[in-house]
Amino acid sequence: MAKDKLWGGRFAQPTNKFVEEFTASIDFDKRLYHQDIRGSMAHARMLGKQGIIPMADVELIIHGLKEILEQIEAGKFDFSVSLEDIHMNIEARLSAKIGEAGKRLHTGRSRNDQVALDIRLYLRDEIVEVLAYLELLVDSLIFQAEAHIDVIMPGYTHLQTAQPILFSHHMLAYVEMFKRDKGRMADCLQRVNVLPLGAGALAGTTFPIDREHVAEILEFPEVTRNSLDSVSDRDFALEFMSASSILMMHLSRFSEELIIWSTSEFKFIDLSDGFCTGSSIMPQKKNPDVPELVRGKTGRVYGNLMALLTVMKALPLAYNKDMQEDKEPLFDTIDTVKGSLKIFADMIREMKVNRETMRTAAAKGFSTATDVADYLVRKGMAFRDAHEVVGKSVAYCLSAGKDLPDLTMEEWKSFSDRIGEDIYDSITLEASVNARRATGGTAMERVKAEIERVKSGR
Ligand code: ARG
Repeated sequence: MAKDKLWGGRFAQPTNKFVEEFTASIDFDKRLYHQDIRGSMAHARMLGKQGIIPMADVELIIHGLKEILEQIEAGKFDFSVSLEDIHMNIEARLSAKIGEAGKRLHTGRSRNDQVALDIRLYLRDEIVEVLAYLELLVDSLIFQAEAHIDVIMPGYTHLQTAQPILFSHHMLAYVEMFKRDKGRMADCLQRVNVLPLGAGALAGTTFPIDREHVAEILEFPEVTRNSLDSVSDRDFALEFMSASSILMMHLSRFSEELIIWSTSEFKFIDLSDGFCTGSSIMPQKKNPDVPELVRGKTGRVYGNLMALLTVMKALPLAYNKDMQEDKEPLFDTIDTVKGSLKIFADMIREMKVNRETMRTAAAKGFSTATDVADYLVRKGMAFRDAHEVVGKSVAYCLSAGKDLPDLTMEEWKSFSDRIGEDIYDSITLEASVNARRATGGTAMERVKAEIERVKSGR
């Protein structure tokens, strides 16, 4: 007989030991203990208010659950694999403590709606934390942008020098990405923040429950509208994992840039020692482990998303045991995203920016060639013709070992007689950057305005 099981009634034989271990989720779902207890307290209060169980039992249940919570938090709770999951571990302990009243707690409820509730309660708190970490990272980026407002660096396309940009403009590019990540997280939170409890196993319950009352206690603005959907969907978790994958994609690109910028070939930045490690054989090495690891961890967050999408694919309604596989990828994504954001926020704040190296690099690679073409357009030449003229001057510079600002007036004139003395002031790094004044451009006045906009929360 399966007497030790909460569902043992219809069984004649005990569960195979390995099956027990194989099907148990307690090792990973015990992290839902707080949510499970909180949900059970709300459920019990509602049962009492509706007269479904005696008020005296509600008191016993609440008291017993409080004690269990304390025990778990003190590390004094023995989780049992034979009790399968967090829900049955807590319920069995409650009944062992308070007897009959404990056995009334599960009235009008199923583990199917219980687990859906626990995950939603857990995830909504975690999303709030992810949002706070994103805010910290944005603050660090703004801090660096303001501290280096006048630093000019090369902007790249194809990782080839393209046009000079402000370093602060580059930082603000990531601010935009992380702000959109915040938007995605906040949007997803609205769909996570819905109460599924009351769906029962799948069809609802025969007891006169008051779901809106439970929602009020647990601070859910809404309740789910279909019992089958309530217990069978995990789209809210998938949404979080999709938003997390996009967020990690952003972090991986930023990581890659930090790694390149830290090389002795670039030397644009120095990551502080606290965020790097050495080599056990090469004494000179300082490796950018943190951005490398975040870049690497992007893989597991994508993998987690694919894992849960695949678990959910083609599952018939309503609950299926497959869905127990939702937790590990979800928890791993939460941990990875929070850890990555936290470490990035600190690392970016401490990063040292080498303004001279950046400036020198920005001046190389004919980065102001577009500015010469734009200059010719302002003098009346069609852009395509101007492009041709500048292409020829670049080819000439390459063979003469010169840079565009080194050309003499005579040399300029040989490419176009529209070019005058004012060419020199038009192609300085500052002139190039500050000419890009329209919304979204790299001009310093524009970047300063954008910093103010972000700081004021717009
Ligand atoms: N441990 C299960 C899970 O995580 C809880 C729900 C189990 N429900 C069931 N009918 N077996 O999904």
